[in-house]
Amino acid sequence: MDSIRVEGGHPLKGEIAISGAKNACLTLMPAALLSDEPLTLTNAPRLSDIRTMTELLGSLGCEVASLQGGKVLAIGAEKISNHTAHYDIVRKMRASILVLGPMLARDGHAVVSLPGGCAIGARPVDLHLKGLEALGAEMDLRDGYVHARAEGGLKGGLVDFPLVSVGATENVLMAATLAKGQTVIRNAAREPEIVDLADCLRAMGAKISGDGTSEITVDGVDRLHGATHPVIIDRIELGTYMLAPAIAGGEVDLIGGRRDLVEAFSAKLEDAGVEVSETPRGLKVSRKNGRIKPVSVTTEPHPGFPTDLQAQMMALLTLADGTSVLEETIFENRFMHAPELTRMGASIDVHGGTATVTGVERLKGAQVMATDLRASVSLILAGLAAEGETTVGRVYHLDRGYERVEEKLGACGAKIERIREGADD
Ligand code: EPZ
Repeated sequence: MDSIRVEGGHPLKGEIAISGAKNACLTLMPAALLSDEPLTLTNAPRLSDIRTMTELLGSLGCEVASLQGGKVLAIGAEKISNHTAHYDIVRKMRASILVLGPMLARDGHAVVSLPGGCAIGARPVDLHLKGLEALGAEMDLRDGYVHARAEGGLKGGLVDFPLVSVGATENVLMAATLAKGQTVIRNAAREPEIVDLADCLRAMGAKISGDGTSEITVDGVDRLHGATHPVIIDRIELGTYMLAPAIAGGEVDLIGGRRDLVEAFSAKLEDAGVEVSETPRGLKVSRKNGRIKPVSVTTEPHPGFPTDLQAQMMALLTLADGTSVLEETIFENRFMHAPELTRMGASIDVHGGTATVTGVERLKGAQVMATDLRASVSLILAGLAAEGETTVGRVYHLDRGYERVEEKLGACGAKIERIREGADD
């Protein structure tokens, strides 16, 4: 299991290129199952989760060519030769459930292992199943698998989600493109990754409107054709690296950064005393001297403050000149970074979905453990500011969602290195 060692106290100066979005790519790849013609994705991020999705699509009979070092993925699903997504792949990555809707829409049947929970929560998929049932699918849960059937194909219908779910919106949106008739999705997720998926599906010939709002309308078509689509930039990677100069001091240019994708987050960063400005190449973030100001944050579905940036924001607020309150409303167990930050000298009080952070003058480097993807990077951010050395263990969590983090931060003057220690567990 690799570790990453950071020596704190070095202000940053330089530029970081933002990669394509993991959470967009993980739904764009299964969209290839909707057509017998190839889908080519450009600006794809090079991450272990993308390799896992590649392995899954391969197991279904797809040809996935990874070109230009993984930045281009050419996916051919001329024929789906196997309609079962097995547990041993699905357990590695919950987004595997996103092959369910496309396979059902394309061939009228699919068997997908239930993904199971993860560190941040139970992560049920009931909304995915109910949404697809509203399109006429029959779901049979047995021995840990979803056996889905749609005799005669899916039919358009009304899908009214009781709560906002990104993945369930994506599964239903993809399935609806080939359903007979019109589908209306109410209380749909509004994340930019949904709009990016809709853009890709329209390029394949789908008829979709309203994406980005809470009501999406889809008019089913008989078939979709191939397309080439650029993966949208990763707003969570962007937000994460905006926090690097904020916590370490200095100034960083984020190439490809788009403020419109991180509006709520940027506003909170500015409230905390960080400068965010738009440049011809993206965003520039800087923090001169002066302490971070405390702010309160509540995570919400887009366009609210993203839950995927909560852990990283907490790292910054541990050094604020006052008390901040973070409310995590999306996942039931997403404060696992708090005890690790406390080991570095932070003062954090967690009660249920609320974390109260009392700012301290300084953090001290320590050996800490990554528990989930976003928690791991929040510990690295804290390490950039801490006195002395911080070693973050189990960074395979990190590699799921961040491409070459030590290279990107190292290029801006961070003293950071990866220590390779045997095979990942
Ligand atoms: C997506 O997960 C992202 N993952 C998550 O990013 C992100 O945190 C989340 O959306 C919220 O923005 C990918 O896109 C691959 P949800 P998803 O369905 O779709 C409950 C990261 O760090 N729910 O919007 O699984 C669920 O338990 C990851 O990159 C049900 O109850 O999230 C949660 O409380 C972490 N039933 C809430 O809804 C369901 O059927 C929102 O989950 C589905 C979800």
